Amino acid sequence: MGTIDPFYALSSSESSLVIDCRNGAPAILYWGARLADGTTADMLATLGTRQEAQARVEKEARIGLSPEAGAGFPGGPGIEVHRDGRQWGVFSRVESVASGDDSLEIRSACDATDIDVVHRLCLDRNSNVLAATTEIINKGNTNLSVVSCSAPTIPLPLHLTEIVGFEGRWSSEFQLRTVSRFPGSYLRENRTGRTSHDAFPGVVLQTPHTSERLGESLALHLGWSGNHRVRVEELSDGRAYAQLGELLFPGEITLAPGESYRSPTLYGVWGEHGVGHVSRCLHRYVRSHLTAKRVRGKAKPVHFNTWEAMYFDLSLERLCRLADKAAEVGVERFVLDDGWFRNRKSDKAGLGDWYVDETVFPDGLTPLVDYVNGKGMEFGLWLEPEMVNPDSDLYRAHPDWVLQADPAPRLLARNQLVLDLTRDAVQRYLFERVDALLSEYPITYLKWDMNRDLSQPGGEDGRVATHHQTLALYDLLRKIRDAHPDVEIESCSSGGGRADFGILAHTDRVWTSDNNDPIDRLRIQNGFSVFFPAEFMGAHVGPHRCHISGREVSLATRAGVALFGDMGIEANLLELSTDELAELEAAVSLHKHNRDLLFSGELFRLDMPGHEHGLGIVSTDRRQALFLYALLDTMPHSAPGRFRFDGLLPNRRYSIKIVWPLAPESYSTSILDSIETSPITGDALMNAGMQLPIITPQSVLVFQLQAVD
Ligand code: GLA
Repeated sequence: MGTIDPFYALSSSESSLVIDCRNGAPAILYWGARLADGTTADMLATLGTRQEAQARVEKEARIGLSPEAGAGFPGGPGIEVHRDGRQWGVFSRVESVASGDDSLEIRSACDATDIDVVHRLCLDRNSNVLAATTEIINKGNTNLSVVSCSAPTIPLPLHLTEIVGFEGRWSSEFQLRTVSRFPGSYLRENRTGRTSHDAFPGVVLQTPHTSERLGESLALHLGWSGNHRVRVEELSDGRAYAQLGELLFPGEITLAPGESYRSPTLYGVWGEHGVGHVSRCLHRYVRSHLTAKRVRGKAKPVHFNTWEAMYFDLSLERLCRLADKAAEVGVERFVLDDGWFRNRKSDKAGLGDWYVDETVFPDGLTPLVDYVNGKGMEFGLWLEPEMVNPDSDLYRAHPDWVLQADPAPRLLARNQLVLDLTRDAVQRYLFERVDALLSEYPITYLKWDMNRDLSQPGGEDGRVATHHQTLALYDLLRKIRDAHPDVEIESCSSGGGRADFGILAHTDRVWTSDNNDPIDRLRIQNGFSVFFPAEFMGAHVGPHRCHISGREVSLATRAGVALFGDMGIEANLLELSTDELAELEAAVSLHKHNRDLLFSGELFRLDMPGHEHGLGIVSTDRRQALFLYALLDTMPHSAPGRFRFDGLLPNRRYSIKIVWPLAPESYSTSILDSIETSPITGDALMNAGMQLPIITPQSVLVFQLQAVD
């Protein structure tokens, strides 16, 4: 055992993290604003001196990176293990610490349970994002049952009393709700077997005064596409902590001697300049650490997706006509959605039979792909490899290949069951099918869908398979990417049911939501943007009457909202008038003109009243920006308020141009008539703000700013 220092510190441009390795297991002593040079860990330790309180234990268990049951921790233990009911009382001591420039690997040994615990922490200097995992290794000579092993636990500064969590459902993902911390646990558990629509594994802790622009916040996210648990607990002794980890079913993980389990990675960032700043840190991290190298800096092509235009009613002739129109409006990638494979005339049959349907495409996909390529567009294809319909050749041949909870009847959702990806035969079959399609056709993009929960997640050996299924999915994606490195993959799960940093490491785009209603979308995209940058946010122009909400919204608004993400079109182009096609073409061109800015710039969400929405993307050199203003609903006053820009350089003068809609309408002479006339300083734009014009509800304005000197 080497010498172990009492404290270890990591620092980034804006924050410091100090780990306390004294007296047993490691703990976070401090995580917050970057400490002054003169501040020592001893000072922090002195400031944290606790005392024995009435009617409590003599020696309070600390909130360690993995709080310990053996030390009497009264909250959620970081690690819960046992050997046939015994050896459960985790109580460890640090054995070694390896420290790198911006990382620490702390190994502790627990004699009570015969495990080693390894905590790995890495604080990225540039983005301020902490990435942290907990690993346990079975050092004993019997099997170890793992009940839970959370990522490192974060003690919370008590003034961060507000908890911003994520909720939602299909077509209404990433809805934010703030609650005040209370004695006891704020607990969100996800047993859907995918990241889920309703419980995104993330949380933001902040003060009651934190806004987009101002105040402290701490954002935490578990990068994992399976089950999870998010807990924020205020203990009766006055302390509070946040703990995120994988949620394991009984018996799901048993470690044989020598085997190990590593928690999913916890990503976190602390900041003092509003939630907006924390998001920008996370976006910077995603861009530098999770975005695949081959798509970094690449202009992401504008999509056309066939789903809402055609559903299952596919014909080569109509697809080619759609491709004509798509090319005309500037689309760069044509994506054939569901319905192209054998036995797939509706969502009742065919999943699993990944062979081109000869009744629709007698000569395979080649005529369509050639046609699309001939129009100058790439070709993309929809697949849902993890699923099978009972009415499919695959299921008829292998009814045992699905996850189940036998003898309970197999529970269908969207008429489908989930394949057990942990079986070699299933992996081989799926890889072979996807590989064959990608080898036969020049496909540059897969929309990888996954449309149901793992409601009955039993594997071949009778144990719950969700953990291994999630890893098996990552493996399958890795194998496909290794074999076809240039193919981009989108993570879709009935919209945004599988969006997390775990899947981002294997995919290049997220289908944010099936809901293309721009008014709903603004709310969905707002929540999505807390953790994810715009280039991952699939955003499509849907039909005039949204198929999901039934709301009818102008093309100007639909396009204005979509152009701030990875833009695409899903409306039936064959139904659009010449004027509408021209308008759409202009929106696509505006997006293309600005996509470098959108996909490398920094996002500023604006604090606005509930009936309005505002955001901007500002280039990192602050010389260019694109801002969106949306009036969602009827105004409470006869005129709106001011639009306070953000992220600009105070002393620079910016010219402002209204670039969308093509012909902005204003009730009477307004700011729209004067704003373009002379440049204005960033200072005035941000602090005085611009009086908004009176526009009709459900309409948008897009402002382009350019530094002039
Ligand atoms: C899911 C996706 C949609 C579409 C359909 C096809 O619902 O989220 O975008 O691809 O499947 O069945």
